[in-house]
Amino acid sequence: MLTIFETIEQCAFKIDHAIKTEDLGYSDTENSSGEDQLKLDVKSDYIIEEAFKNVSLVKSLVSEEKEGELLLHDDGKYTICYDPLDGSSLADVNLSVGSIFGIYEGELKAENLVASAYVVYGPRIELMRAVKGERPKHYRAQNGFFNLVSNEVELSEKGKLNAPGGTQQNWCDYHKTFVDDLFAEGYRLRYSGGMVPDLHQILLKGGGIFSYPGTSDKPHGKLRQLFEVIPFAFMYEQAGGQAVDHKGRRLMELVPEHPHDTSPCFFGSNYEIEKLKEAYGVGK
Ligand code: AHG
Ligand code: MN
Ligand code: MN
Ligand code: MN
Repeated sequence: MLTIFETIEQCAFKIDHAIKTEDLGYSDTENSSGEDQLKLDVKSDYIIEEAFKNVSLVKSLVSEEKEGELLLHDDGKYTICYDPLDGSSLADVNLSVGSIFGIYEGELKAENLVASAYVVYGPRIELMRAVKGERPKHYRAQNGFFNLVSNEVELSEKGKLNAPGGTQQNWCDYHKTFVDDLFAEGYRLRYSGGMVPDLHQILLKGGGIFSYPGTSDKPHGKLRQLFEVIPFAFMYEQAGGQAVDHKGRRLMELVPEHPHDTSPCFFGSNYEIEKLKEAYGVGK
């Protein structure tokens, strides 16, 4: 597993360099989710694929930017499902972006995820990684190395930040009411449009909730289970928080039918997730 995390660190420096030096425009291709790919999406994907070709522990790769599974090493143990550059359309306005990695052993479903990691490319490069049974570890890059910032990231029981994703016009009524109630309770809006920095901020700045609900235009939400939802669900649970869908079911029970399947998703501190379940009339 250490080799995998070290490879992610190497990729992080290369992707950061690409973000800082390369063309920020679109390519002429689309990915499997029907999104126009930026040149940086394609480049970041290539950096990660090339890096893991040298890691024999890795059986295969599944990328947000490619349709199928890429077999690397027949006798490898893990499949890495990754979003090479999350929030890439925000790079040209100089907002933070990220990379997300889910490390699965066996069939690609949430309960088989054994570790996850994400990188934030902002004023600094930061890395968060989690393995089963331990609190996430937080690192910050300095002079070409990742230094440990915290060995045990723990989410507060109740927070004050609210990051509500999706187009408001397309929210259902009970979701609107839920968000209005958070504002009425004193929550502060913290939403950049990049799930990596948004979830990172909640994790490190006292807790709260990030939501990307099903909407009238996207009833199954936008965020992809294998590359985005499950790796963050694992991270939030390991930090002592919760991650559920619109029915209050743990996202760590998801079984994707297709690699690019999406799910409505809610990540947060315990208080806010319990409040969400009540607002949605699900759970307990
Ligand atoms: P990606 O850039 O990997 O395609 O995904 C971006 C995601 C996520 O970071 C964010 O929460 C969400 O898309 C925002 O999407 P909309 O602005 O379309 O709601
Ligand atoms: Mn995309
Ligand atoms: Mn993404
Ligand atoms: Mn992406």
